[in-house]
Amino acid sequence: MKRRTFLGAAGLGSGGLLVPTWGFSQAGAGTNELKIPELLSGTQENGRRHYRLQVQRGSSRFFPDLDTPTIGYNGSYLGPTIRLRDGDDVTMHVHNALGEPTTTHWHGLHVPARADGGPHIVIDDGATWSPEFRVMEHAGTFWYHSHLVNRTGEQVYRGMAGMIIVDDAESGNLPLPWDYGIDDIPLVIQDRRFNRDGSFQYVGAQSDIMTGLFGNTILVNGTLDPYFVPRTTKVRFRLLNGSNARTYNLAFSDGRPFQQLSCDGGFLDAPFEMRVVELGPAERCDIVVDVSDGNPVNLISLPMAADSPYQPRGMMRNMHPVNNERLQILALRPQSGLVRSETLPPELVPMVRFEERGVDNTRRFTLGMAMGMGMGGRMGRGGGPGGGGGPGGGRGGMMMGGGGDMFFINNQGMDMSVINETIPVGTTEVWEIFNDSMMMHPFHIHHGQFQVLDRNGIAVHSHERGYKDTVKVGPGETVRLVMTFDHYTDTEIPYMYHCHILEHEDNGMMGQFLVV
Ligand code: C2O
Ligand code: CU
Ligand code: CU
Repeated sequence: MKRRTFLGAAGLGSGGLLVPTWGFSQAGAGTNELKIPELLSGTQENGRRHYRLQVQRGSSRFFPDLDTPTIGYNGSYLGPTIRLRDGDDVTMHVHNALGEPTTTHWHGLHVPARADGGPHIVIDDGATWSPEFRVMEHAGTFWYHSHLVNRTGEQVYRGMAGMIIVDDAESGNLPLPWDYGIDDIPLVIQDRRFNRDGSFQYVGAQSDIMTGLFGNTILVNGTLDPYFVPRTTKVRFRLLNGSNARTYNLAFSDGRPFQQLSCDGGFLDAPFEMRVVELGPAERCDIVVDVSDGNPVNLISLPMAADSPYQPRGMMRNMHPVNNERLQILALRPQSGLVRSETLPPELVPMVRFEERGVDNTRRFTLGMAMGMGMGGRMGRGGGPGGGGGPGGGRGGMMMGGGGDMFFINNQGMDMSVINETIPVGTTEVWEIFNDSMMMHPFHIHHGQFQVLDRNGIAVHSHERGYKDTVKVGPGETVRLVMTFDHYTDTEIPYMYHCHILEHEDNGMMGQFLVV
C-alpha cells in the first residue's frame, strides 16, 4: 500500500495553508475556524417533536481551491446536531435524496428495532422514512450515521454522520458548560485521505479493509486544521470519534489535565481527572478543560503507547503501524478577558449498576479475522493462506479460499437472513467478548447502553465504568459487559452487534439479535 498518496506539495502549499502529509506534519497553526454544526431542535406538532433530515449529495471545500464530492444531512457534509429531550415523543423524518439506497441509525439510543435504522430499514432513493419513538435516555452524547449493509463504511466516510445530544431533567441543573457552540462544543473527529483532484479516497487496497480505513488528514466537524476561540474559562468538548477505524489518544499539548464527565451514553458518577482519553471508533466522552490561564494550547492525539493492550500484535503490527502518529486535532486560542465559568460539581449523576438486577444469562462472542497473504495463520474460522491476488478491495476477495467474509463473530460472517441470538425481553445478560485476532475491535451493541464489568477478569477503571455502547476489545482480551434488554419486542426486525471499524462491519464482523 502506498502511504504517501497525495497532498505532498501538490500546488497547495503556496496559499499559506499547512498541507498535511503522511506523518501529520500539520504544525497546528489552526488555519480555519472550527465549524459548529447547526443545532436541530425539532418542532412541536400534535404532541410530538418532529425532526427533519435530508440525505443529499454535495460538494465541500476542505481545501481553498479544491472541491470534494461529499454527502451530508441537510447540507453538504455531516449533519446538524440533533437535540433530544428524555421523555419526548419524537418523529424523525429522513428523506433520501442521495440517488442510492441508505439507512440512518441512531447510535446508542434505546429505540424499537424498526426505528433503529439498522441494515433492514432501507430508505430507497426518493423515499422518506419516519420512525417514531419515545426518548428514554440519560443525558449524553450520541450520534447518527448510515448503516447500509456492506456500504456503511463508504457512506459514513463520504459524510453521513452527525451528533445527537440528549438532555434530561436529572442533569439539567448541574453547573456545567451547557451553551451549545459557546462553551459546549461538539467535536466530530475523523481522518480522511484525498485524491489529487480533491475527492475522498476510500478503500484502495486490501490492507484498508484489514486494518480498517486510515486517513492521513484530520477533519473536525468537517474543518481542516481547525482553531477554536474559547470565551469562557472552562470549555466542555463533546468528543466523538467519527472515524472509520482510527483510535485517538486525546490529550492537550502542554499535558494539562482535564475532567472527564461521561462515557458514551451518560454521565459518570463524578468528574474524573484525566490527561489522556483513548477513544476507539464510535466512542464518545464529554470533557471539560480549564483555559483560564489564557494560553494557547492544542488538542492533540498522542501515539498509542507501545504497551497499550490495543496495539496490534504479530504480523498485524508490522503490516501497518496504525494509531502510532501524533496528530494535531484542534488549536485553542482563548480570547482575552475570559468569562468566568462555574466550578464543576463534585458529583454528577448517581449510576444504577445493571448487574444488581441479577444476571439471567451469559453469552460468549468470539471475534475472528481470516489472515491471508501468506501471513500465516488462521484466525477465527478457516481461511488462511491461499487466496492470492493483489489489491482489489471489496468483499469476499483474496483472504479466504472462496469463503467470502474476512471477519467473523462466533465463526460466522454477517448474514442478513440469519438471526444469531434471541433474547427474552426484560432480562439482564452478561456478554463475554473474546478477541481471537491480532488487532483491537471496538464492539458495539444496538438497543441501548451496557456497562463494562472487567477485562481479562480485572475490573475496569472508574472512567470506563459508565454507560457504554461501544467497548474496545484488545487482541487476546476478554471483556465482560452487562446489558438489560427491556422493551421493544419484535419477532422480525433484529438489532445488530458488530465491530465499529466500519470496514470490518461491512466485511462480516456483525451479527443480529431479536428481543422477544
Ligand atoms: Cu454506530 Cu450499528 O452502529
Ligand atoms: Cu449503533
Ligand atoms: Cu474490527
